[in-house]
Amino acid sequence: MITIDKLQKKFGDRVVLSDISVTFEKGKVVSLIGPSGGGKSTLLRCVNGLETFDAGSITVDDLKLEPGDAKKNKHALLAIRQRVGMVFQQWNLFSHRTALGNVMEAPVHVKGVSPAQATERAKALLDRVGLSHRMGAYPHEMSGGEQQRVAIARALAMDPEALLLDEPTSALDPERVGEVLDVLRKLAKEGQTMLVVTHEMRFAREASHRTLVLHGGAIIEDGPPEQVMDHPTHERTRAFLGKG
Ligand SMILES: Nc1ncnc2c1ncn2[C@@H]1O[C@H](COP(=O)(O)OP(=O)(O)OP(=O)(O)O)[C@@H](O)[C@H]1O
Ligand SMILES: [Mg+2]
Repeated sequence: MITIDKLQKKFGDRVVLSDISVTFEKGKVVSLIGPSGGGKSTLLRCVNGLETFDAGSITVDDLKLEPGDAKKNKHALLAIRQRVGMVFQQWNLFSHRTALGNVMEAPVHVKGVSPAQATERAKALLDRVGLSHRMGAYPHEMSGGEQQRVAIARALAMDPEALLLDEPTSALDPERVGEVLDVLRKLAKEGQTMLVVTHEMRFAREASHRTLVLHGGAIIEDGPPEQVMDHPTHERTRAFLGKG
């Protein structure tokens, strides 16, 4: 479970997340939507320990992040990054490693898993994202959709408490979006905890249990996707959804 309590984040004098309190339950998929600049990526980056923050706290299981500089929080930041998997819009695979090598990397080098064991697991994960036939391929030999699925397998290889995905399909060619969404739908069905920033409203509606709308650094809607999308309470949400 992830608990965010009264989180505040500033860039310089600008408050970009203000007083955010929210709990993400295990096994649930939460979609995070809202207008550009609302703070979606920043929120995800705080939860993953990629950004520090100014007030409040973030708890992932028994690990607690508190305000402060990266140095002070170094231990907790490293620990959190191992607990929470992150998938970005740009997949950033290691270009000199194969799909298999990319998925094995962190378990071997960060967790000390034996190469033999890591290989078995990586193969199973690549199979799970529909890439058992591409294990030996290098990133430049794969499509964007394939690379993104490798990135998802790579994040899963660390057995994350939760998977955070920041617009995982928005850098893809339209015909490649479906294959990545299919993988995410499957993971959702299997009970993988996910927090996904997305512009794919249909996906959010079908695959998530809960939708949050972030606007101006605050959560302005929080509820089942049908409720948020069909009966938004906030004028800004109606405008964002084109219901204005
Ligand atoms: N490193 C940074 N330095 C200064 N300001 C930043 C930085 N990163 C983000 N911001 C600002 O914080 C606010 C929130 O940005 P964020 O990237 O979280 O929004 P977003 O909801 O993810 O938007 P988008 O849908 O465009 O990805 C924006 O006003 C942005 O300009
Ligand atoms: Mg963003």
